[in-house]
Amino acid sequence: MEFYKLEKLQVENFRNLSSDTIEFSQAINCIFGENGNGKTNILEAIFFLCNKKSFRKNTSFPQILSVESEKPEILFNSAWLTDNNQRLSISGKVSSVTSSWNLNSRPIKSKPKLASVFINPFDSYGFHTTPSFRRNWVDQHLSLISKEYKDVLSRYNQSLKFRNQLLSKKPSSYLQQVEAIDDQLAYYSKIVTDLRMEFVEQLGPYCKMTFKIIFEQVHDLQLQLQSEFIGSTQEEIREFYRQNLKKDDINGRTTYGIHLDDYLFLFDGFNSFEFCSLGQQKMSYLSLIFAYIELFRYKFSSYPIVLIDDVSGELDSRRWKNLIEYLEAKNFQVIITTANENFKQELEKIKNSNKIYVDGGSIGNL
Ligand SMILES: Nc1ncnc2c1ncn2[C@@H]1O[C@H](COP(=O)(O)OP(=O)(O)OP(=O)(O)O)[C@@H](O)[C@H]1O
Ligand SMILES: [Mg+2]
Repeated sequence: MEFYKLEKLQVENFRNLSSDTIEFSQAINCIFGENGNGKTNILEAIFFLCNKKSFRKNTSFPQILSVESEKPEILFNSAWLTDNNQRLSISGKVSSVTSSWNLNSRPIKSKPKLASVFINPFDSYGFHTTPSFRRNWVDQHLSLISKEYKDVLSRYNQSLKFRNQLLSKKPSSYLQQVEAIDDQLAYYSKIVTDLRMEFVEQLGPYCKMTFKIIFEQVHDLQLQLQSEFIGSTQEEIREFYRQNLKKDDINGRTTYGIHLDDYLFLFDGFNSFEFCSLGQQKMSYLSLIFAYIELFRYKFSSYPIVLIDDVSGELDSRRWKNLIEYLEAKNFQVIITTANENFKQELEKIKNSNKIYVDGGSIGNL
Protein backbone atom coordinates (compact mmCIF):
# COMPACT_ATOMS: atom_id res chain seq x y z
CA MET A 1 0.00 0.00 0.00
CA GLU A 2 1.25 3.47 -0.88
CA PHE A 3 0.68 6.73 1.00
CA TYR A 4 0.57 9.34 -1.72
CA LYS A 5 -1.26 12.62 -1.88
CA LEU A 6 -3.42 13.42 -4.88
CA GLU A 7 -2.44 16.51 -6.86
CA LYS A 8 -4.52 16.27 -10.02
CA LEU A 9 -7.27 14.11 -11.37
CA GLN A 10 -8.86 13.92 -14.76
CA VAL A 11 -11.41 11.28 -15.75
CA GLU A 12 -13.23 10.46 -18.92
CA ASN A 13 -16.58 8.66 -19.03
CA PHE A 14 -16.94 8.46 -15.25
CA ARG A 15 -20.63 8.98 -14.41
CA ASN A 16 -21.61 12.64 -15.02
CA LEU A 17 -18.09 14.08 -14.60
CA SER A 18 -16.65 16.17 -17.40
CA SER A 19 -13.04 15.61 -18.46
CA ASP A 20 -11.92 18.81 -16.67
CA THR A 21 -8.74 18.49 -14.60
CA ILE A 22 -9.39 18.80 -10.86
CA GLU A 23 -6.53 20.17 -8.77
CA PHE A 24 -6.10 19.30 -5.11
CA SER A 25 -4.14 20.78 -2.26
CA GLN A 26 -2.19 18.65 0.23
CA ALA A 27 -4.48 19.64 3.11
CA ILE A 28 -8.19 20.47 3.04
CA ASN A 29 -10.14 20.34 -0.20
CA CYS A 30 -13.82 21.33 -0.14
CA ILE A 31 -16.18 20.32 -2.90
CA PHE A 32 -19.29 22.46 -3.27
CA GLY A 33 -22.28 22.15 -5.56
CA GLU A 34 -26.01 21.70 -5.43
CA ASN A 35 -27.65 18.29 -5.16
CA GLY A 36 -27.03 15.95 -8.06
CA ASN A 37 -24.12 17.86 -9.62
CA GLY A 38 -21.29 15.36 -9.08
CA LYS A 39 -19.70 15.91 -5.63
CA THR A 40 -20.01 12.28 -4.56
CA ASN A 41 -18.99 11.17 -8.04
CA ILE A 42 -15.63 12.94 -7.60
CA LEU A 43 -15.03 11.08 -4.32
CA GLU A 44 -16.08 7.84 -5.99
CA ALA A 45 -13.64 8.42 -8.86
CA ILE A 46 -10.79 9.00 -6.36
CA PHE A 47 -11.79 5.93 -4.37
CA PHE A 48 -11.91 3.88 -7.56
CA LEU A 49 -8.47 5.08 -8.54
CA CYS A 50 -7.15 4.05 -5.11
CA ASN A 51 -8.95 0.71 -4.79
CA LYS A 52 -10.09 -0.34 -8.27
CA LYS A 53 -13.65 -0.54 -6.98
CA SER A 54 -16.47 1.74 -5.92
CA PHE A 55 -17.43 2.40 -2.32
CA ARG A 56 -21.05 1.94 -3.29
CA LYS A 57 -22.38 -1.57 -2.70
CA ASN A 58 -23.18 -3.71 -5.74
CA THR A 59 -21.75 -1.13 -8.11
CA SER A 60 -19.96 -2.50 -11.10
CA PHE A 61 -18.56 -1.05 -14.30
CA PRO A 62 -21.88 -0.44 -16.16
CA GLN A 63 -23.14 1.84 -13.37
CA ILE A 64 -20.04 4.03 -13.22
CA LEU A 65 -19.62 4.29 -16.99
CA SER A 66 -21.13 7.55 -18.22
CA VAL A 67 -24.48 6.99 -19.91
CA GLU A 68 -23.24 9.35 -22.62
CA SER A 69 -19.94 7.58 -23.32
CA GLU A 70 -19.19 6.66 -26.90
CA LYS A 71 -16.73 3.92 -25.95
CA PRO A 72 -17.31 1.45 -23.09
CA GLU A 73 -14.18 2.46 -21.21
CA ILE A 74 -13.25 4.84 -18.43
CA LEU A 75 -9.94 6.71 -18.52
CA PHE A 76 -8.07 7.98 -15.47
CA ASN A 77 -5.18 10.45 -15.44
CA SER A 78 -3.74 11.48 -12.12
CA ALA A 79 -0.71 13.14 -10.56
CA TRP A 80 0.51 12.24 -7.06
CA LEU A 81 3.05 13.42 -4.55
CA THR A 82 4.90 10.60 -2.77
CA ASP A 83 5.94 10.51 0.89
CA ASN A 84 9.39 11.78 -0.04
CA ASN A 85 8.02 14.55 -2.24
CA GLN A 86 8.50 12.93 -5.60
CA ARG A 87 5.93 13.50 -8.31
CA LEU A 88 4.50 10.60 -10.24
CA SER A 89 1.61 9.96 -12.55
CA ILE A 90 -0.84 7.08 -12.59
CA SER A 91 -3.11 6.60 -15.57
CA GLY A 92 -5.40 3.80 -16.49
CA LYS A 93 -8.01 2.46 -18.83
CA VAL A 94 -10.84 0.42 -17.32
CA SER A 95 -13.48 -1.59 -19.16
CA SER A 96 -15.99 -4.19 -17.99
CA VAL A 97 -13.50 -7.02 -18.56
CA THR A 98 -10.00 -5.62 -18.17
CA SER A 99 -8.03 -2.73 -16.84
CA SER A 100 -4.54 -1.53 -17.75
CA TRP A 101 -2.43 0.91 -15.75
CA ASN A 102 0.63 3.07 -16.32
CA LEU A 103 3.02 4.52 -13.77
CA ASN A 104 4.89 7.53 -15.13
CA SER A 105 3.62 6.54 -18.59
CA ARG A 106 5.13 3.03 -18.35
CA PRO A 107 2.80 0.01 -18.25
CA ILE A 108 2.65 -1.75 -14.90
CA LYS A 109 1.30 -5.21 -14.12
CA SER A 110 -0.71 -4.13 -11.14
CA LYS A 111 -1.61 -0.68 -9.96
CA PRO A 112 -0.31 0.19 -6.48
CA LYS A 113 -3.06 0.27 -3.86
CA LEU A 114 -3.33 3.79 -2.53
CA ALA A 115 -4.40 4.28 1.06
CA SER A 116 -7.80 5.95 1.40
CA VAL A 117 -10.66 6.00 3.88
CA PHE A 118 -14.20 6.94 2.89
CA ILE A 119 -16.73 8.43 5.30
CA ASN A 120 -20.33 8.88 4.24
CA PRO A 121 -23.64 10.01 5.74
CA PHE A 122 -25.38 6.64 5.74
CA ASP A 123 -22.67 4.63 7.43
CA SER A 124 -23.57 5.70 10.96
CA TYR A 125 -27.07 4.33 10.49
CA GLY A 126 -25.87 1.11 8.83
CA PHE A 127 -23.26 0.61 11.50
CA HIS A 128 -25.76 1.06 14.32
CA THR A 129 -28.56 -1.05 12.90
CA THR A 130 -27.14 -3.87 10.79
CA PRO A 131 -24.88 -6.72 11.99
CA SER A 132 -23.64 -7.55 8.48
CA PHE A 133 -22.68 -3.87 8.02
CA ARG A 134 -20.61 -3.95 11.23
CA ARG A 135 -18.97 -7.19 10.16
CA ASN A 136 -18.08 -5.79 6.73
CA TRP A 137 -16.89 -2.55 8.29
CA VAL A 138 -14.42 -4.37 10.52
CA ASP A 139 -13.35 -6.80 7.79
CA GLN A 140 -12.73 -3.98 5.32
CA HIS A 141 -10.94 -1.61 7.69
CA LEU A 142 -8.90 -4.26 9.46
CA SER A 143 -7.88 -5.80 6.12
CA LEU A 144 -6.49 -2.44 5.08
CA ILE A 145 -4.09 -2.33 8.02
CA SER A 146 -3.38 -6.07 8.40
CA LYS A 147 -2.35 -8.17 5.43
CA GLU A 148 -2.38 -11.23 7.67
CA TYR A 149 -6.05 -10.60 8.52
CA LYS A 150 -6.97 -10.12 4.89
CA ASP A 151 -5.20 -13.31 3.79
CA VAL A 152 -6.43 -15.56 6.61
CA LEU A 153 -10.01 -14.28 6.31
CA SER A 154 -9.97 -14.95 2.59
CA ARG A 155 -8.71 -18.51 3.17
CA TYR A 156 -11.38 -19.02 5.84
CA ASN A 157 -14.09 -17.88 3.41
CA GLN A 158 -12.83 -20.20 0.67
CA SER A 159 -12.81 -23.18 3.04
CA LEU A 160 -16.26 -22.23 4.36
CA LYS A 161 -17.64 -22.09 0.83
CA PHE A 162 -16.24 -25.54 0.05
CA ARG A 163 -17.63 -26.89 3.35
CA ASN A 164 -21.09 -25.57 2.52
CA GLN A 165 -20.94 -27.12 -0.95
CA LEU A 166 -20.12 -30.50 0.60
CA LEU A 167 -22.80 -30.20 3.27
CA SER A 168 -25.47 -29.32 0.71
CA LYS A 169 -24.96 -32.64 -1.07
CA LYS A 170 -27.27 -35.44 0.06
CA PRO A 171 -26.82 -38.15 1.11
CA SER A 172 -23.80 -36.83 2.97
CA SER A 173 -20.99 -39.13 1.98
CA TYR A 174 -18.43 -36.36 2.31
CA LEU A 175 -18.22 -36.00 6.06
CA GLN A 176 -14.57 -37.09 6.17
CA GLN A 177 -13.68 -34.27 3.81
CA VAL A 178 -15.68 -31.85 5.97
CA GLU A 179 -13.68 -32.98 9.00
CA ALA A 180 -10.46 -32.16 7.19
CA ILE A 181 -11.79 -28.69 6.34
CA ASP A 182 -12.75 -28.21 10.00
CA ASP A 183 -9.09 -28.56 11.00
CA GLN A 184 -8.32 -25.59 8.73
CA LEU A 185 -11.36 -23.60 9.87
CA ALA A 186 -10.34 -23.98 13.52
CA TYR A 187 -6.84 -22.77 12.66
CA TYR A 188 -8.10 -19.72 10.71
CA SER A 189 -10.80 -18.95 13.30
CA LYS A 190 -8.26 -18.66 16.08
CA ILE A 191 -6.08 -16.21 14.13
CA VAL A 192 -9.02 -14.09 12.94
CA THR A 193 -10.58 -13.92 16.43
CA ASP A 194 -7.28 -12.85 18.00
CA LEU A 195 -6.76 -10.15 15.36
CA ARG A 196 -10.32 -8.86 15.79
CA MET A 197 -9.87 -8.71 19.56
CA GLU A 198 -6.62 -6.82 19.17
CA PHE A 199 -8.25 -4.39 16.71
CA VAL A 200 -11.22 -3.49 18.93
CA GLU A 201 -8.97 -3.11 21.96
CA GLN A 202 -6.60 -0.79 20.10
CA LEU A 203 -9.48 1.38 18.82
CA GLY A 204 -10.92 2.03 22.32
CA PRO A 205 -8.48 4.68 23.63
CA TYR A 206 -8.36 6.44 20.24
CA CYS A 207 -12.21 6.62 20.19
CA LYS A 208 -12.26 8.31 23.57
CA MET A 209 -9.60 10.77 22.40
CA THR A 210 -11.27 11.69 19.09
CA PHE A 211 -14.68 12.05 20.76
CA LYS A 212 -13.17 14.43 23.30
CA ILE A 213 -11.28 16.50 20.73
CA ILE A 214 -14.03 16.74 18.13
CA PHE A 215 -17.11 16.83 20.31
CA GLU A 216 -15.76 18.32 23.56
CA GLN A 217 -17.15 15.55 25.73
CA VAL A 218 -15.60 12.64 27.53
CA HIS A 219 -17.23 9.33 26.71
CA ASP A 220 -16.00 5.80 26.65
CA LEU A 221 -16.59 4.34 23.23
CA GLN A 222 -15.83 0.71 22.85
CA LEU A 223 -16.36 -1.70 20.04
CA GLN A 224 -16.85 -5.10 21.59
CA LEU A 225 -16.44 -8.35 19.68
CA GLN A 226 -19.25 -10.83 20.14
CA SER A 227 -18.01 -14.27 19.19
CA GLU A 228 -18.37 -17.77 20.57
CA PHE A 229 -14.63 -18.29 20.18
CA ILE A 230 -13.23 -15.47 22.35
CA GLY A 231 -10.54 -16.96 24.58
CA SER A 232 -10.80 -20.43 22.99
CA THR A 233 -7.75 -22.36 21.89
CA GLN A 234 -7.53 -23.78 18.38
CA GLU A 235 -8.20 -27.27 19.82
CA GLU A 236 -11.32 -26.03 21.64
CA ILE A 237 -12.63 -24.47 18.44
CA ARG A 238 -11.92 -27.72 16.62
CA GLU A 239 -13.87 -29.61 19.30
CA PHE A 240 -16.79 -27.20 18.92
CA TYR A 241 -16.92 -28.02 15.21
CA ARG A 242 -16.74 -31.76 16.01
CA GLN A 243 -19.72 -31.51 18.35
CA ASN A 244 -21.84 -29.49 15.94
CA LEU A 245 -21.13 -31.33 12.71
CA LYS A 246 -24.31 -33.45 12.95
CA LYS A 247 -26.41 -30.29 13.23
CA ASP A 248 -24.77 -28.82 10.14
CA ASP A 249 -25.19 -32.07 8.25
CA ILE A 250 -28.94 -31.94 8.91
CA ASN A 251 -29.13 -28.22 8.00
CA GLY A 252 -27.04 -28.72 4.87
CA ARG A 253 -24.85 -25.69 5.68
CA THR A 254 -22.54 -24.21 8.32
CA THR A 255 -24.63 -22.63 11.06
CA TYR A 256 -21.90 -21.17 13.28
CA GLY A 257 -18.46 -19.65 13.04
CA ILE A 258 -16.56 -16.38 12.83
CA HIS A 259 -18.40 -15.29 9.67
CA LEU A 260 -21.40 -14.76 11.96
CA ASP A 261 -19.55 -12.77 14.64
CA ASP A 262 -21.01 -9.40 15.60
CA TYR A 263 -19.87 -6.25 17.40
CA LEU A 264 -21.53 -4.20 20.12
CA PHE A 265 -20.82 -0.48 19.98
CA LEU A 266 -20.85 0.69 23.59
CA PHE A 267 -21.30 4.33 24.63
CA ASP A 268 -20.30 4.62 28.31
CA GLY A 269 -21.18 0.95 28.61
CA PHE A 270 -24.63 1.25 26.96
CA ASN A 271 -25.52 -0.09 23.53
CA SER A 272 -25.18 3.10 21.50
CA PHE A 273 -28.05 2.21 19.13
CA GLU A 274 -30.51 1.82 22.01
CA PHE A 275 -29.11 4.58 24.23
CA CYS A 276 -27.90 7.43 22.02
CA SER A 277 -29.73 10.15 20.11
CA LEU A 278 -29.25 10.24 16.34
CA GLY A 279 -26.70 13.06 16.73
CA GLN A 280 -24.80 11.12 19.38
CA GLN A 281 -24.81 8.04 17.15
CA LYS A 282 -23.36 10.15 14.35
CA MET A 283 -20.72 11.62 16.71
CA SER A 284 -19.84 8.16 17.99
CA TYR A 285 -19.49 6.77 14.49
CA LEU A 286 -17.35 9.74 13.37
CA SER A 287 -15.18 9.35 16.47
CA LEU A 288 -14.76 5.66 15.62
CA ILE A 289 -13.71 6.33 12.06
CA PHE A 290 -11.29 9.10 13.04
CA ALA A 291 -9.97 6.75 15.75
CA TYR A 292 -9.37 4.22 12.99
CA ILE A 293 -7.51 6.86 10.97
CA GLU A 294 -5.26 7.53 14.00
CA LEU A 295 -4.65 3.79 14.44
CA PHE A 296 -3.81 3.63 10.75
CA ARG A 297 -1.21 6.34 11.28
CA TYR A 298 0.20 4.54 14.31
CA LYS A 299 0.72 1.41 12.17
CA PHE A 300 2.15 3.02 9.04
CA SER A 301 3.47 6.41 10.23
CA SER A 302 1.38 7.91 7.44
CA TYR A 303 -2.22 8.94 7.02
CA PRO A 304 -4.57 7.69 4.29
CA ILE A 305 -6.39 10.17 2.04
CA VAL A 306 -9.62 10.96 3.87
CA LEU A 307 -12.75 11.30 1.73
CA ILE A 308 -15.74 12.76 3.58
CA ASP A 309 -19.09 12.88 1.83
CA ASP A 310 -21.54 15.37 3.35
CA VAL A 311 -21.65 14.12 6.93
CA SER A 312 -23.23 17.35 8.20
CA GLY A 313 -26.81 16.03 8.72
CA GLU A 314 -27.70 15.71 12.43
CA LEU A 315 -24.60 17.61 13.57
CA ASP A 316 -25.28 21.03 15.05
CA SER A 317 -23.15 23.95 13.90
CA ARG A 318 -20.89 23.84 16.95
CA ARG A 319 -20.06 20.16 16.32
CA TRP A 320 -19.50 20.91 12.64
CA LYS A 321 -17.07 23.75 13.52
CA ASN A 322 -15.23 21.42 15.90
CA LEU A 323 -14.94 18.82 13.17
CA ILE A 324 -13.51 21.42 10.80
CA GLU A 325 -11.01 22.55 13.46
CA TYR A 326 -10.01 18.94 13.95
CA LEU A 327 -9.41 18.53 10.22
CA GLU A 328 -7.42 21.77 10.12
CA ALA A 329 -5.16 20.56 12.93
CA LYS A 330 -4.38 17.26 11.22
CA ASN A 331 -1.93 16.95 8.42
CA PHE A 332 -3.78 14.47 6.30
CA GLN A 333 -5.16 15.20 2.89
CA VAL A 334 -8.91 15.49 3.19
CA ILE A 335 -11.50 15.94 0.49
CA ILE A 336 -14.87 16.93 1.93
CA THR A 337 -18.18 17.70 0.24
CA THR A 338 -21.29 19.54 1.34
CA ALA A 339 -24.50 20.77 -0.23
CA ASN A 340 -25.56 22.49 3.01
CA GLU A 341 -25.36 26.32 2.73
CA ASN A 342 -24.47 26.98 6.41
CA PHE A 343 -21.81 24.34 6.54
CA LYS A 344 -20.50 25.54 3.19
CA GLN A 345 -19.90 28.99 4.69
CA GLU A 346 -17.87 27.46 7.52
CA LEU A 347 -15.77 25.50 5.07
CA GLU A 348 -15.24 28.59 2.93
CA LYS A 349 -13.75 30.38 5.94
CA ILE A 350 -10.90 27.88 6.28
CA LYS A 351 -7.67 29.61 5.41
CA ASN A 352 -5.69 27.99 2.59
CA SER A 353 -8.34 25.42 1.80
CA ASN A 354 -8.78 24.45 -1.81
CA LYS A 355 -12.30 25.06 -3.05
CA ILE A 356 -13.76 23.06 -5.90
CA TYR A 357 -17.14 23.95 -7.38
CA VAL A 358 -19.08 21.33 -9.33
CA ASP A 359 -21.87 22.27 -11.68
CA GLY A 360 -23.47 19.60 -13.84
CA GLY A 361 -20.29 17.51 -13.65
CA SER A 362 -18.05 20.43 -14.72
CA ILE A 363 -15.34 21.66 -12.38
CA GLY A 364 -14.16 25.05 -11.27
CA ASN A 365 -11.19 25.44 -8.89
CA LEU A 366 -10.91 28.69 -6.94
N1 LIG B 1 -23.50 6.43 -15.18
C1 LIG B 1 -23.83 7.72 -15.14
N2 LIG B 1 -23.70 8.48 -16.24
C2 LIG B 1 -24.04 9.80 -16.22
N3 LIG B 1 -24.51 10.43 -15.14
C3 LIG B 1 -24.67 9.72 -14.03
C4 LIG B 1 -24.33 8.33 -13.96
N4 LIG B 1 -24.57 7.89 -12.70
C5 LIG B 1 -25.05 8.95 -12.03
N5 LIG B 1 -25.11 10.04 -12.80
C6 LIG B 1 -25.55 11.40 -12.44
O1 LIG B 1 -24.71 11.89 -11.41
C7 LIG B 1 -25.46 12.82 -10.65
C8 LIG B 1 -25.30 12.52 -9.17
O2 LIG B 1 -24.05 12.86 -8.81
P1 LIG B 1 -23.61 12.89 -7.28
O3 LIG B 1 -24.20 11.74 -6.56
O4 LIG B 1 -22.15 13.01 -7.32
O5 LIG B 1 -24.32 14.23 -6.80
P2 LIG B 1 -23.96 15.11 -5.53
O6 LIG B 1 -23.40 16.40 -6.02
O7 LIG B 1 -23.15 14.32 -4.59
O8 LIG B 1 -25.41 15.36 -4.96
P3 LIG B 1 -25.98 15.36 -3.44
O9 LIG B 1 -25.68 16.71 -2.88
O10 LIG B 1 -27.43 15.18 -3.65
O11 LIG B 1 -25.34 14.22 -2.73
C9 LIG B 1 -26.91 12.68 -10.99
O12 LIG B 1 -27.30 13.81 -11.74
C10 LIG B 1 -26.94 11.44 -11.83
O13 LIG B 1 -27.91 11.50 -12.82
MG1 LIG C 1 -23.60 13.38 -2.81
